[in-house]
Amino acid sequence: MFHVKHDPTVPAAAEQLFGDRLDLAVRYVEHLASTGVEWGLIGPREIPRLWERHVLNCAVVAELVPQDVLVLDVGSGAGLPGLPLALCRPDLRVVLVEPLLRRVEWLDLVVDDLGLDAVQVRRARAEEVVGELTAPVVTARAVAPLDRLARWGLPLLEPGGALLAVKGRTAEQEVTATAAGVRRAGGVSTEVLTLGSQLLDEATTVVRVRVGAARPSVATSRPRARRAARR
Ligand SMILES: C[S@@+](CC[C@H](N)C(=O)[O-])C[C@H]1O[C@@H](n2cnc3c(N)ncnc32)[C@H](O)[C@@H]1O
Repeated sequence: MFHVKHDPTVPAAAEQLFGDRLDLAVRYVEHLASTGVEWGLIGPREIPRLWERHVLNCAVVAELVPQDVLVLDVGSGAGLPGLPLALCRPDLRVVLVEPLLRRVEWLDLVVDDLGLDAVQVRRARAEEVVGELTAPVVTARAVAPLDRLARWGLPLLEPGGALLAVKGRTAEQEVTATAAGVRRAGGVSTEVLTLGSQLLDEATTVVRVRVGAARPSVATSRPRARRAARR
C-alpha cells in the first residue's frame, strides 16, 4: 500500500483566493487527501501537490467568470475545477456534470459535508444534458482534446457564452491542431490565457472558446423550414 502523508500547511495564495471560505477549502483538500484517495478519485502521489497543482490552479479561473452566473463543470471528476470555483465565488451556482457513479457519490458526499447549497451534482455525460442545461460558462479540465470538448461543451452555452478549458503547457499547439474542429463545433474565437502568475509557482493556462452572441434560429438553420418560409 502506498502512503503519502498530507501536509496540513495552507499556502498563502489559498488565503488570498478563498478569503473567509478558507476553512471550507481546507476541508475540501482534506477530503481529496483522504476519501478522495481511498475512493480512487485522485492518485496518492498527488497528495503533496493538492493545493498548488489542483485546487489553486483551478481557483484562479474564477477571474474569467462573470458575477452571479451558472457554471457547468463537465467531467468534474473530483470536483475540479467546479468545487474550487464554487468555494472562492459564493455568488456562483455550479453544476458538476460527471457520468461515473462512484465519482458522483463522492461529489455528493463532499458537497453535503461542505454545505455547498449552490452546488448540484448531475450524473450524466455532457452530451446527455444538451437542451436541458445551459449556462454562460462551461468549465472543464483534463476531460478531452479541445475539438471533442468543444463538441460536448459548446452546445451547453448560452449565446455569447464561453467554454473555459484548463489545459497544460501545450495549449497553443492543441489550439492550432484542433482549430477546424472547434470552429465546426460553433467556436467563434479561441484565446490562450495565462492566469495566477502572481500567485502560483506555475501559472494556469486556460483556453477560452466563445460562441456567437446570436445563434441561428431553428427555422433558418433547417433547409426545409427555409423553403417553407420562402413560399
Ligand atoms: C481525467 S478526469 C478529470 C477530472 C477533473 N476534471 C480533473 O481535472 O481532475 C476526466 C473526467 O471526465 C469524465 N468524462 C468523460 N467523458 C465525459 C463526457 N462525455 N461528459 C462528461 N464527463 C465526461 C470522466 O468520467 C472523468 O471523471
